[in-house]
Amino acid sequence: MKAIVINSFGPPDVFQFSNVPEPSLKLNEVLIEVGTGSVNPIDYKQRKGNHKFILGSDFPIVLGYDVAGTVIQTGKDVNHFKPGDCVCGILNNKYGGGLSEYAKGSEKCFAKIPSDFDPDNFAALPLAGLTALQALRDKAELKQNEKILILGAAGGVGHYATQIASILGADITVTASERHKSFLNQLAKINFIDYTKTDILEASQTFHVIFDTVGKYNFIKMKHMLVPGGIYINILPRPKILIHKLISLFTRKKRVKTLLMKHNSEDLQLLINWINQGKLKICIDKTFSIANVGDAHKYMEEGHTEGKILIKYLWPEEGKE
Ligand SMILES: NC(=O)c1ccc[n+]([C@@H]2O[C@H](COP(=O)([O-])OP(=O)(O)OC[C@H]3O[C@@H](n4cnc5c(N)ncnc54)[C@H](OP(=O)(O)O)[C@@H]3O)[C@@H](O)[C@H]2O)c1
Repeated sequence: MKAIVINSFGPPDVFQFSNVPEPSLKLNEVLIEVGTGSVNPIDYKQRKGNHKFILGSDFPIVLGYDVAGTVIQTGKDVNHFKPGDCVCGILNNKYGGGLSEYAKGSEKCFAKIPSDFDPDNFAALPLAGLTALQALRDKAELKQNEKILILGAAGGVGHYATQIASILGADITVTASERHKSFLNQLAKINFIDYTKTDILEASQTFHVIFDTVGKYNFIKMKHMLVPGGIYINILPRPKILIHKLISLFTRKKRVKTLLMKHNSEDLQLLINWINQGKLKICIDKTFSIANVGDAHKYMEEGHTEGKILIKYLWPEEGKE
């Protein structure tokens, strides 16, 4: 099958067109023909080799976690999907494997897309959407009228978090640069802080939840902005997290938690139901063809995405790549 592979870690131009063997299915796995994918920061971090000591260097590597497409085949133990179903999901293979004609993942990775929707944009939902949902609903247990501060609200995770906080009935303050203000105002009722003009640490408000998708600050720097019992959630690896957790024992029950997104079909289905009900939107900043996935990585690495980046799988003809 056709795939975009890397044969070494490095800059965005390491991507190459290639033919690789089709994945073989385990009993609980689903094989899909991929129609679209989306880029997440983890993809470029892996392309650079940031995770090679954990995941190895078994080239050729096919990157890409977020996909949407059509089910082609299911393993014997798969209960919820059948060939022909339109699905989206986040693949649970080492390095993903999504930048290919066909991709597989276990059943818990996928959820069905309603037939009255164009399935393409749904590739931009799974990783960022699940991260936002699990952070706000499960880690923060965000409640109606609670005050939340979302750092990095215009990005992939942030734009879902802003909408989910609104669905949960929170009082929302966000940080982003001025050019994203109208985008964010269309997503939810928000208080907007331009982080390029205001030092957020100087703000006088306090919050029940601070959701940090940027990683510029940490619990120690921001704990004065939490109410007693408030919680700071980060989604980036923090070298001093254990020390910060220890310090939090002495900070009037202010807590710090780290979220690592978990594959969960029901959670993904909940997000899709919200889209179906018109409560949640998938916002696409730019679309690239799969032949230009390197450009998509370059764009994302600049760090100013508004919503998500979509990859369309229009494969170059044999010999013309
Ligand atoms: N733990 C997990 O399970 C998990 C899951 C998903 C993602 N992550 C991590 O979370 C991070 C965010 O992911 P993402 O997909 O949201 O990335 P993204 O889409 O690339 O985020 C880009 C956004 O960040 C904003 N930004 C950059 N610096 C900022 C600052 N100082 N203050 C406010 N906003 C700022 C940018 O806004 P401006 O244009 O205004 O600068 C832009 O809108 C990544 O490092 C990713 O690896 C972790």
